[in-house]
Amino acid sequence: HRPAALTPTVDVSSLIDTTNGVVDRAIFTNREIYEQELRRVFAPSWLFLGHVSQLTKKGDFFTTYMGEDPVIVSMDQDKKIQAFLNSCRHRGARVCRADAGNTKAFSCTYHGWAFDLQGKLQNVPNEAGYNEKFDREAWGLVPVAQLDTYRGLIFATWNPKAPPLPEALGDMAWYMDAMLNRDPEGTEVVGGVMKWVLKGNWKLAAEQFATDWYHVNMSHASALMVLSPTGKGPVSGIANTPGRQYVDPQGHGAGFPTHPKSRFDAQAVHEHYDYDALRDRLGAARVEGPMTTGHATVFPNFSYLPVNGSIRIWHPKGPDEMEVWAWTLLDKSMPPEVKEAQRLYNLRTFGPSGIFESDDGENWSEVQAISHGFITNNTPLNYQMGLGSERHDGVYPGTTSELYSDAAGRSFYARWADLMNTPAWHEETE
Ligand code: FES
Ligand code: FE
Repeated sequence: HRPAALTPTVDVSSLIDTTNGVVDRAIFTNREIYEQELRRVFAPSWLFLGHVSQLTKKGDFFTTYMGEDPVIVSMDQDKKIQAFLNSCRHRGARVCRADAGNTKAFSCTYHGWAFDLQGKLQNVPNEAGYNEKFDREAWGLVPVAQLDTYRGLIFATWNPKAPPLPEALGDMAWYMDAMLNRDPEGTEVVGGVMKWVLKGNWKLAAEQFATDWYHVNMSHASALMVLSPTGKGPVSGIANTPGRQYVDPQGHGAGFPTHPKSRFDAQAVHEHYDYDALRDRLGAARVEGPMTTGHATVFPNFSYLPVNGSIRIWHPKGPDEMEVWAWTLLDKSMPPEVKEAQRLYNLRTFGPSGIFESDDGENWSEVQAISHGFITNNTPLNYQMGLGSERHDGVYPGTTSELYSDAAGRSFYARWADLMNTPAWHEETE
């Protein structure tokens, strides 16, 4: 990567036409655009790191990525969550190569610089070899600018000027609560982090989870037959269902059926819930809407499925590849057998080889595989469904559209284009 100052900027205005619902395919294939995303979309935005239940004791840590930047997330001596760049300030090696664990310090395996749980440089072998110009304090691991949690989800940003997390989530938090606030005790993740690599640009997945209920009937027809009680046809509650799509001005999005029959949880989970109590807690509109079989993306690359208990991040790995990291999220107070039923249900449906997950991954890889063809790449894509349908419906917060709509996709790309065309904090000259 070139330093930002040396990098020409692509004006993406002509590539995204949200008024007419047309998107240029270069945004999925072009290397310059991809590198601009890293510095103008990923670096300035709040990004999902993991769940608080992954860190319970002092010294617990896990590693992840923010964009392509490797980070360590740790619990320090004061049980505070810290996050910093996983790259040694000496010659740049990763100071932690483990996925997760417990430690007192992170020692770089190249020359042995050691950093504490807050990323401060603690020990330098042969420090006598440096003179008074060497300031140990100045060579700690680069910390994130802001870190915050929302109901157990850890988010961070490199951007000191980013609005606080609650503001960045806006009305989306109301929809997220359909998954995160069902249980007064909160949520936890179980079963580790599932990780797999997919050919396909990260936006194909992120936009689908924001906006695309439309593919369900066709792409998932065989899976729906498996789930169907008769085994003979798609579950009608999923295939042809009323519902709404939430369209967030900051690029978030969610789609959900509003018919009670559209709730397809694991049987044990369904029986576990007291729906009257949930209606008191979350309101009927939320229980019969966002808590049903829906999908959602928190801009840019965190997505979730409330019924399946699947939360995931689409890590960008170049324009043509993404790495999916997925967790199973559960209500903390569920009895063990219900938790196990939910975990297995998530694996069967949206684990790496889940009956729905494999349909989705196949679509994205198939789209990506042909997109570098010259004529193909110059043939734009249609995002016109539901054009003009966006409105406040009087029931759900913010703006919604029809369930079968591209409205949240258009707003995802409007937000993306806005960030791509705006200098980020690190480009501003004082
Ligand atoms: Fe880490 Fe030298 S690169 S100690
Ligand atoms: Fe799908």
